[in-house]
Amino acid sequence: MASNSMWGGRFSESPDAVMDLINVCIDYDKRLYAQDIQGSLAHSAMLVETGILSAQDGEKITSGLNTILQEIESDQFVYSRDLEDIHMNIEARLRELIGDAAGRLHTARSRNDQVATDFKLYIRDWIDGAVQEISQLQLILAEKAKAYNDVVMPGFTHLQTAQPVTFGHHLLAYVEMLERDYSRFMDARNRLNQSPLGSAALAGTSFPIDRDKTAQTLGFNEPTRNSLDAVADRDFVLEVLSAASITAMHCSRFAEEIVIWSTAQFNFVNLPDRFTTGSSIMPQKRNPDAAELVRAKIGRIAGAFQALLMVMKGLPLTYSKDMQEDKEMTFDALQSLSITLAAMIGMVKDMTPVEGNMREAAKSGFSTATDLADWCVRALNIPFRDAHHITGTAVAEAEKRGVDLPDLPLEALQAIEPRITEDVYSVLSVEASVQSRTSYGGTAPSNVAQQAESWIDLLKAR
Ligand code: ARG
Repeated sequence: MASNSMWGGRFSESPDAVMDLINVCIDYDKRLYAQDIQGSLAHSAMLVETGILSAQDGEKITSGLNTILQEIESDQFVYSRDLEDIHMNIEARLRELIGDAAGRLHTARSRNDQVATDFKLYIRDWIDGAVQEISQLQLILAEKAKAYNDVVMPGFTHLQTAQPVTFGHHLLAYVEMLERDYSRFMDARNRLNQSPLGSAALAGTSFPIDRDKTAQTLGFNEPTRNSLDAVADRDFVLEVLSAASITAMHCSRFAEEIVIWSTAQFNFVNLPDRFTTGSSIMPQKRNPDAAELVRAKIGRIAGAFQALLMVMKGLPLTYSKDMQEDKEMTFDALQSLSITLAAMIGMVKDMTPVEGNMREAAKSGFSTATDLADWCVRALNIPFRDAHHITGTAVAEAEKRGVDLPDLPLEALQAIEPRITEDVYSVLSVEASVQSRTSYGGTAPSNVAQQAESWIDLLKAR
């Protein structure tokens, strides 16, 4: 391997073979090709406008970069490991195509501001796609919530039946979580949207560049204010990985519920065949593989967040080569979240509740015990703590008789509290229970239908 043609001037020795393994990043940073060309086009146009570059050279550079874009997109571009990274691969090819003018593109620029710019553009593009996927998943959930606003299922705490809720309400809980995910990505997008280009290696440049111009061309809100900060930080990557970890965590929880719900023991939902697999030895099996993998993806996504945080920790200003480690795991993590969201969208779209099983399960476990206690408070003006005690005794009695609460005879209830009347049965069914939960944010079908509709309106307009 010859000494590098891009910066080899003062080198007499070729890089050690291990440098090919530790230093070369073209295998993964080639994903930045479109953003790298986009940045170079903006930079060279600005250099022409400010008179730093001749119009003639500017035209050559522009047409050369466009040729390279086509070569890459039609798989004709030959990447060279000797050229280390995407920036030098593109610049070297530009020189082959247009000759010496190519060497002027790097005026008033360094790979340090270049890579920060490219990566911000890449992440911004990714966010723009991801928030659409999140919104799509929310819309599917909201539409299902509307359709199943009154389907009763058990609500759990500690995975023990707690109180009846509606399936629609459960789905809308995820719509809320995903909305916060959405806004975290939008916040991160806004904060990262300052252009590092023109910060050069670290100190800025003596050329009369126009950083507002390149910022504007590239869709940034403004240029970064401090050149050292601009080339040295990767907090914009960490923010997105952190938001991605939280979204992946939400998806993981939902996936776990789908896994539980689709067991023979629960049988709460039918999952489309397309997202399950069979077993090579047990013909009866229908495994929820997609849900399990969604449940798992958080591992590599949150892992990337931790890994990059450790890479950045303790680095002195400004750029150090450590920071090249920011990309590979970020690409993997972001791609993993995109796949996770796509799988969730596919699974949820065709997932249907087995309403009878949900309702049966909602009835078990004395799930309307709280309703009995609330009735005693309301109808008999008994303090809640005492009502709680009465209800506990009633539950023990029902358990002894092997019946559910609504099936306890009135005499049995009156033996515990003589003032209880027939009217109590109006609150002991699971339907009555959910219908009574009309407090703001509660599970009453009327609430759920209303919330679902306002989500549908909001998401369709987004
Ligand atoms: N491939 C490098 C990276 O991703 C580009 C920046 C190189 N800068 C430098 N001063 N060596 O970080």
